[in-house]
Amino acid sequence: MEITGHSKIMFVLADPVDHVRASAVLNAYFSGIGEDVATSPLAVLPQDLGTVVNAIRLMGNVVGFGVTIPHKVAIMQLLDDVTDRAGMIGAVNFVRRCQDGRLVGDNLDAPGFLAGLSAHGFSAAGKRVLQLGAGGAGRATALAVAQAGAAELRISNRDQARGHALAVAVQALFPATQVSAGPAAAEAFDLIVNTTPLGMKAADAMPVDISNITSSTVVYDIIVNPPVTRLMDAARARGTVTIGGKAMLDAQMALVATFIKR
Ligand SMILES: NC(=O)c1ccc[n+]([C@@H]2O[C@H](COP(=O)([O-])OP(=O)(O)OC[C@H]3O[C@@H](n4cnc5c(N)ncnc54)[C@H](OP(=O)(O)O)[C@@H]3O)[C@@H](O)[C@H]2O)c1
Repeated sequence: MEITGHSKIMFVLADPVDHVRASAVLNAYFSGIGEDVATSPLAVLPQDLGTVVNAIRLMGNVVGFGVTIPHKVAIMQLLDDVTDRAGMIGAVNFVRRCQDGRLVGDNLDAPGFLAGLSAHGFSAAGKRVLQLGAGGAGRATALAVAQAGAAELRISNRDQARGHALAVAVQALFPATQVSAGPAAAEAFDLIVNTTPLGMKAADAMPVDISNITSSTVVYDIIVNPPVTRLMDAARARGTVTIGGKAMLDAQMALVATFIKR
């Protein structure tokens, strides 16, 4: 990749930065579609976030920046505007820098998640969905599933109070979906979504027992690495369709490309 004065520049703000892969994925994506856009990770401490964001406002060749742990919530109050979607989710993961330096935040986890599902020919509409986890990504996927018209959404989270709070919030926004929280038997659902990090390490426990699911269940694990988690492996052994986190990530790349051009 040749970065010149004509290149559009993006960043990914994180602390720590050593886990950041989005910059490489964005660079590969933009290079693949022939766009002169270059992205670099930026190590930014939480106490310096405001200073860095204000500096980016002054950088005329910057078109936007990704935001990851631990800045996704704190960034919101530093921006000029956030999309309705980001406001509903309560977190931003991508910011567009307009030509006049204004900064607009969005959350692309939710549409990326749904696009990944649809790329495999599935929709959450009318489905019974079991979601494992209620963290940052889980909040986006739960709202996405309900907004897509799921019949039922069950949220199982290690911290049950947190799972319950998310269920209450989603239910209030989407009354047509029956939303609840607590442990659940996987076989009672059409779509199982893992939003916990369980599966990133080989020694991790399974996020849910799927020994009784049938081949009609779809298992969507949003973990990107490894591309096939233990959960997906076990699901495949039962003949089910599995979707990995790359589908969600790839969809977000296309969404970023559109977002920075608006
Ligand atoms: N594919 C994509 O585009 C994409 C996008 C975003 C995130 N992700 C992936 O999604 C995963 C979660 O990210 P996040 O930002 O949502 O993290 P997060 O905010 O830290 O939330 C993690 C969630 O997993 C639960 N959890 C964590 N460790 C657990 C354990 N040992 N046992 C059971 N539950 C556990 C947490 O439960 P408690 O509430 O009890 O702590 C929480 O609900 C990561 O693997 C991340 O890489 C993928």
